[in-house]
Formats: sequence, structure tokens, C-alpha cells
Amino acid sequence: MPSILLLGVTGLVGSHLVLALKKNYPSFPVTVYLRNTTIEKYLTETAGVSKIVYGAYEETEKLASLAKEHDIVINVGSSVDPTSSHAIVTGLNQRPAGVKTTLIHMSGAGNFVDATSNTGSANPNAKVWNDANIKDMEQLHPEMLNGRADEVVLNAGKQGNIGTYIIFPTGLYGASTGPVKVLGIIQLLMYLKAKELGFVPYIGDGTARFNTMHVLDTIPPVLRMIDLAIKEETPQGSVYERCYIVGANLDKWIDLSTKFAEIFHAKGIVPSPVPRQVKLEDAGEGEITMLMSKDLLTRSERAESKLGYKPTQKPILEHLDTALGEYTLE
Ligand SMILES: NC(=O)c1ccc[n+]([C@@H]2O[C@H](COP(=O)([O-])OP(=O)(O)OC[C@H]3O[C@@H](n4cnc5c(N)ncnc54)[C@H](OP(=O)(O)O)[C@@H]3O)[C@@H](O)[C@H]2O)c1
Ligand SMILES: *[C@@H]1O[C@H](CO)[C@@H](O)[C@H](O)[C@H]1NC(C)=O
Repeated sequence: MPSILLLGVTGLVGSHLVLALKKNYPSFPVTVYLRNTTIEKYLTETAGVSKIVYGAYEETEKLASLAKEHDIVINVGSSVDPTSSHAIVTGLNQRPAGVKTTLIHMSGAGNFVDATSNTGSANPNAKVWNDANIKDMEQLHPEMLNGRADEVVLNAGKQGNIGTYIIFPTGLYGASTGPVKVLGIIQLLMYLKAKELGFVPYIGDGTARFNTMHVLDTIPPVLRMIDLAIKEETPQGSVYERCYIVGANLDKWIDLSTKFAEIFHAKGIVPSPVPRQVKLEDAGEGEITMLMSKDLLTRSERAESKLGYKPTQKPILEHLDTALGEYTLE
């Protein structure tokens, strides 16, 4: 049975993925690599992992030698910082020639924000990125939001020893599961921005569009990537034909910020239940203000045809109050 090494088990995606691995591949031994030493009982008894190794991604030699011992590494821990990807690839490249080796990497669709406009208004000429269009995927580059780690993974795949698969989800909503409650990146950044400014912002007229998806809709495509990796004699196609964009809801930022403001107000985090219009320069620093200022337009044609991708969860505007209702935020 192929062994799996999972990075990110205490994160929003990883908290669900580890349970899905147990359910769908009960005979595959799963190792988790994490920092938090307080959830050992949960991981072994409930999540059924066979091995726990403690460490940070910065402990690259430890991580590389652990990766080397596994057939499939799944990294849902870090997409912006390439440190863990470097270490994983170093380890996997030391496996004996001819032994099937797979790296499933979660990047992010933040790579595909509109490069031509950041006014907060919809740009009718914004590029629509399609995973089925190889020319689009060939434009992945290190200056993109998650591009430095993507580059490490793509280069490793091009060398041919490692079968690489990259999934690019759009902004995630939904609650984590298990003992560690985490918001995931987008919900966390919205919360931190509201705390920083004292209100929930939107930029310009707020018609710029953002794609989101429920965290549970990321799980089936990751499982299908495992199926492909197991089934195929060698990884099929070029590295760019193993890139999959997944997304679900396209909303205007003004509507997203309105929903976050309602919820954060009800929780006592911001005084106003309505978002405030600001200029980009008045929205403070960071990834979330950049995202708010631009369109993010993607299509998932390859994920649909090759992974059977089809989102089934409730749309963000209908589900966010339930999801964030599970958290104590102050
Ligand atoms: N959430 C989104 O909207 C979104 C959208 C697109 C792509 N992505 C990407 O998809 C992946 C999963 O997202 P997520 O929302 O589930 O992320 P998350 O909740 O922030 O989880 C990150 C996980 O990685 C671990 N981690 C991070 N840095 C580490 C380090 N230096 N050493 C050891 N462990 C480290 C965290 O462990 P600790 O518990 O110890 O911190 C946690 O388990 C990420 O790469 C993210 O960038 C997320
Ligand atoms: C570790 O997990 C516990 C839950 O068991 C959580 O309360 C704590 O905040 C976590 N620690 C860190 C550093 O994330």
C-alpha cells in the first residue's frame, strides 16, 4: 500500500483531508508532520494516522528525510513560502530510481488575479484563467502569489522523477474540524483586516469579482489526484496538464464585505454592520487588500473533465454565518 505524508493537518484544508484519507484509503499508512504536540490522541485515535513526526517546515533536513520515506507527499500546509516544497522535493529526489513517487501540492488561485487593474471595479477585459488551457498554465511564474513554491514543484515534475499534481483553489470558506479551530487564510485575513481598520472595507465601487469555494469541495479533487497517481504507470502528460484550478462562487467584493461586516458586527468585532468604501491606499497593507482590488476569474474545465470536479456545498453568502458561527472571535 502506498504510504502518504501529509503536511498541514492542523490547517483548514488538512483538518478535513486527514479524515477523508482515513475514510477513502483506510489501508494506506498516513504520516503527519506538524508542530502542535497537543493533539496526538485525536490524530491516532480519531484520524487514524499511523505515524506522527513533529517539526517545522524550516527544519528542512528532517522534512527531506521524512519525505524520502513516503510514496505520496501531500502539501496543504504552505503555498506562498517555498521552504517546505524545496525540502520535500530534495527528499523525494533521493528515492531509488524507478520507484513511483508523487507530490500533490496545494497552491492557490490568488496567482490568477487580474494584473491590469486594481481599482476595486470589475474590469471587463480581465483575463479568465482556464486550467484546460496549457498556455495559461505555462504562464505560471515565481512573481505570482504562490509562484515560488509552484516553480519548485513544476521544475521537480519536469525532471521526471516525481509525478507532480498541483491544485489551485480559490478563496476558501467553511469551518475546520477536529480539536484545533482555524479560520484558514482568507477568513483569517478578513478577520485581521476588520480588527486592524475597525471596519470591513471594500475598495472603489466594490464590483471587482472574487471566486470562493467551500473547503469541503477541495477534498474530492485531491482524492481523485491520489487515484490518478496510484493508477497510472507514469504520470500522464506534461506538468501543466497536471494543474487543476477549482472554484465555485463568483461574487462582487461589495457583497462579500457586506456579509463579513454583518457577521463580524454580530460577534462584536466591528461597530458597524455595513462595510465601508475606501481607496486602495486607505485599506492598509497585505494580501487581502490586493485581492479586494482586482478581479479573479477562473475556469475549472480540466478539473471538471479529469477529476470530475463539481462543487456541492452551499454558496458563501448563504453559508458564511454558519461557518463563522463555529468560532469564538473577539
Ligand atoms: N484558505 C484559503 O482561502 C486558501 C485559498 C487558496 C489556497 N490556499 C492554500 O492552501 C493551503 C491550505 O490552506 P489552509 O487555509 O488550510 O491553511 P491554514 O489553515 O493556514 O493551514 C496551514 C497549515 O500549515 C501548517 N504550517 C504553516 N507553516 C508551517 C511551518 N513553517 N511549519 C510547520 N507547519 C506549518 C500550519 O500548522 P500550525 O497549526 O502549526 O500553524 C497548518 O497546519 C495553504 O498552502 C494555503 O496557502 C488557501
Ligand atoms: C494546539 O492545539 C490546541 C488544541 O488542542 C490549541 O488550543 C492550540 O492553540 C494549538 N497551538 C498552536 C500553537 O497552534
